[in-house]
Amino acid sequence: MKKTFLDLGNQPLANNFSKKYIPPLFRLKLKFDTKSKLVMINKHLKKESMFNKSYPYRSSKSKLVKKLFKELSKKIRKKLKAENILEIGCNDGTFASNFKKNSITCIEPCGDVAAEAKRKGLSVYVKYFDNLLVKKLIRDHKKFDVIFSANTITHISNLNSVFNNVSKILTKNGTLIIEEPSLLETIKKNSYDQFYNEHIYVFSTIALQNILKKNNLEIYDVENIKVHGGSNRYYIKKIENKQIRISLRFKRNIILEKKFGLHKLSCYKNFSKKVKNSKVKLTELFKKLKKNNKKIIGYGASAKAVTIINYCNLKDNYFDFFYDTTKQKIGKFLPGTKIKVLKYQKLKNNKIYVFLGAWNFYKEILKKENFFYASSGKFITHIPYPRIITK
Ligand code: TMP
Repeated sequence: MKKTFLDLGNQPLANNFSKKYIPPLFRLKLKFDTKSKLVMINKHLKKESMFNKSYPYRSSKSKLVKKLFKELSKKIRKKLKAENILEIGCNDGTFASNFKKNSITCIEPCGDVAAEAKRKGLSVYVKYFDNLLVKKLIRDHKKFDVIFSANTITHISNLNSVFNNVSKILTKNGTLIIEEPSLLETIKKNSYDQFYNEHIYVFSTIALQNILKKNNLEIYDVENIKVHGGSNRYYIKKIENKQIRISLRFKRNIILEKKFGLHKLSCYKNFSKKVKNSKVKLTELFKKLKKNNKKIIGYGASAKAVTIINYCNLKDNYFDFFYDTTKQKIGKFLPGTKIKVLKYQKLKNNKIYVFLGAWNFYKEILKKENFFYASSGKFITHIPYPRIITK
């Protein structure tokens, strides 16, 4: 049974950056399925409305993402000895570029970003990962010994269909590797902003294993990685493949998640209380700053920032603007608001307050903004609780 535990208010499509103001579109609520233990959002929008030609997100914008992808690609070559690799949701080809072009096949339904991957010499199917495409892949490539997907599977509503299709194109001893935000980290950090229209699910290891088993797959290892505010990289095999042992790390992850109660509704009710409290505190902080005539800007017009600002109603008169490095976002409104996104410039004025929309890249940002930080510049964050960070 699905139980609603949190209402995140009226929200827009989190990546719908537009020159025209578009008001919030739908009510975002979070649910827990007491049977499968999956945590999901209530509204599953049409994929075409979210993942289309003008999708603005670019993986290559983060140094950390690039570094982790490079390290993983080495491991895939050396340890898994993969020859025929598939990437589902390759974005601009940041991961796939680490391989010889004839050893990797990419799937990316968003036209503009797929074109960038193609320009890097990659072979890309500009299509959604569905039954039709899987039939075509089988005709064209037979099977894959590694299938990789980062931050894509949780964007697809029908998980059983995804994993069933993966099973069809994965070799008997092959590995499926997926990276997704960790529900445990989300709860620990109170980062409710992991939830927006594209993140249909946020996985716990417990829930993911339940869905996989229904499709004759199982997790055999888990790495906890720092990207996107704390993610898990899952290594998955066919249940029939008895050559690979289930790692201790996997077992430890399950134990830790159970300790936190991720398999129980009470955990999410508690999370909900903390989120509501975080909203009150963050709003108070902003009101106080504005009362004292402080100038506030946003740093990183992320989808996460969109959830926070719309949920906490920090839209009018709080922000002067947001900075972002992504060409596709610049000159447009932060979705659901009239806050303009401007081309990033190094922070100089230490009198302003800088809200970390990209809090998950905090370390990277501190390095970049060493002058601002060293001269007592002030950052605002809500992770793990609303506060001002200053040297
Ligand atoms: P993400 O959290 O969904 O990856 O989005 C982060 C956004 O922040 C993305 O639009 C790129 C932007 N960004 C900057 O503008 N400057 C930076 O230094 C970093 C790391 C990200």
